[in-house]
Amino acid sequence: MRIFGIVLAAGQGKRMKSKLYKVLHPVCGTPMVGHIVGLLDQIGCSQKIVVVGHGAEAVKAYLGDKAEFVHQQEQLGTGHAVLQAKDLIGSEEGITFVLYGDTPLILQDSLEKMAILVQDEVAAVVMTAEIDRPTGYGRILRDDQNLLAGIVEEKDCSPEQKAIREINTGIYCFDNRKLFAALEEITNNNASGEYYLTDVIQILRERGEKVVSYLTADSSEAVGVNDRLALAEAEEIMRQRINRQHMLRGVTIKDPATTYIDATVTIGADTLILPGSILKGATSIGEDCIIGPQADLTDSTIADGVSIKYSVLYDTVVGAATTVGPYANLRAGTKLADNVKVGDFVEIKNATLDTGSKVSHLSYIGDARVGKNVNIGCGAITVNYDGYNKHMTLIGDNAFVGSNVNLIAPITVGQGAFIVAGSTITKDVEEDALAVARERQTNKPGYGAKLRARMLRKKDNKDNIGGE
Ligand code: UD1
Ligand code: CA
Repeated sequence: MRIFGIVLAAGQGKRMKSKLYKVLHPVCGTPMVGHIVGLLDQIGCSQKIVVVGHGAEAVKAYLGDKAEFVHQQEQLGTGHAVLQAKDLIGSEEGITFVLYGDTPLILQDSLEKMAILVQDEVAAVVMTAEIDRPTGYGRILRDDQNLLAGIVEEKDCSPEQKAIREINTGIYCFDNRKLFAALEEITNNNASGEYYLTDVIQILRERGEKVVSYLTADSSEAVGVNDRLALAEAEEIMRQRINRQHMLRGVTIKDPATTYIDATVTIGADTLILPGSILKGATSIGEDCIIGPQADLTDSTIADGVSIKYSVLYDTVVGAATTVGPYANLRAGTKLADNVKVGDFVEIKNATLDTGSKVSHLSYIGDARVGKNVNIGCGAITVNYDGYNKHMTLIGDNAFVGSNVNLIAPITVGQGAFIVAGSTITKDVEEDALAVARERQTNKPGYGAKLRARMLRKKDNKDNIGGE
């Protein structure tokens, strides 16, 4: 049996009050429509059609080849939107999930159960939910045998219907041909003047078809994001689900309430996530790590046994047993090998530090290749920018860069070289050399005491004048 998926994503999302098109608003790091299309993949959907209209180019650019697209020129309602897919799949045999692009919390398990319910005699399954505050949702109507009779939109509800707490989640599974046949009959004769997909339920029933409901046990699935309040609600629910999944797979999360992990992040077992940590994008973390408190990681790859405290990492690779922080800022293109130490107030950008190297305090390393077992002293920096161009610094294995050294790039420091603290290095340093580039020190005996006496005299004179 073929499975089709139609995702409605053509509405404007006015209630979001946003420049960003509604279905592109992220929930736990992934745009809502991305969650839906991903879910269709998971259930083995063979053809995914996304109905686009407002913001069509942006939605297409985001989804790329993950779906096919049909255009709904005018947004005349959800039923009209589904009809746009008719030319592509209207006459195919199979089952079709219709999902709304603003309903990101649907569970795979529910869709699988609905697919089983749609058998030869069943034309449609509607997922319903019982919720305390049904405002804004379509209400479920039942006949005297308690069977699904139809769906009435809030705007069209009588006062009695408004009190119904069973709502339409907007998640449906249809017999494909029966869906498109029934869609031909919908009208826009309602309070909104729109062609409602929900009317299909009543139409199918009138045609003598069997329609059934699937009441979800987890009403959080139903959250439809129409405004920023619902967006925050969806974010919170998905965040809890994600944290729970990681914990079930062996990750310790000290305080799930203050831990923010995108849907795209992977974490190995026995890793400990401490409070205030934010893990985003294509980040993957190995086993036995200690992440946080307050680690902010984006698109970064962390090997096993790593510790990262109070630090920001973006597009960074960290090798096994390396330690970062507290208070490090690792920017795009940072690559740390195994057993590296990056300490407090260190910024690194587009730089590689090989095994065993240390940058322990107060350094800037930008556009550099640092070899193995290099020690970069406190306050030492690479001077990579001349106001126009960026230049590379190359430091060989086992080199020692003293405190407060400026390495003015482009520059090469050979293996085993030793750079004396406080030096400003402008010329390459050859292997095993010692470089010193600072003023020679002179001491003047007794001069400190003389100076102090002179200063005191000056101060006394000033105080006397002031006192008269
Ligand atoms: C819809 C349902 C309602 C249900 C609720 C669940 C209808 C008529 N109503 O209401 O019963 O309780 O979802 O969340 O279906 N869209 C288009 N083209 C259009 C109109 C809408 O693509 O012409 C898309 C929107 O972009 C959105 C989705 O369809 O992603 C749902 O539309 P929306 O206006 O949000 O419907 P609701 O009022 O939430
Ligand atoms: Ca909606």
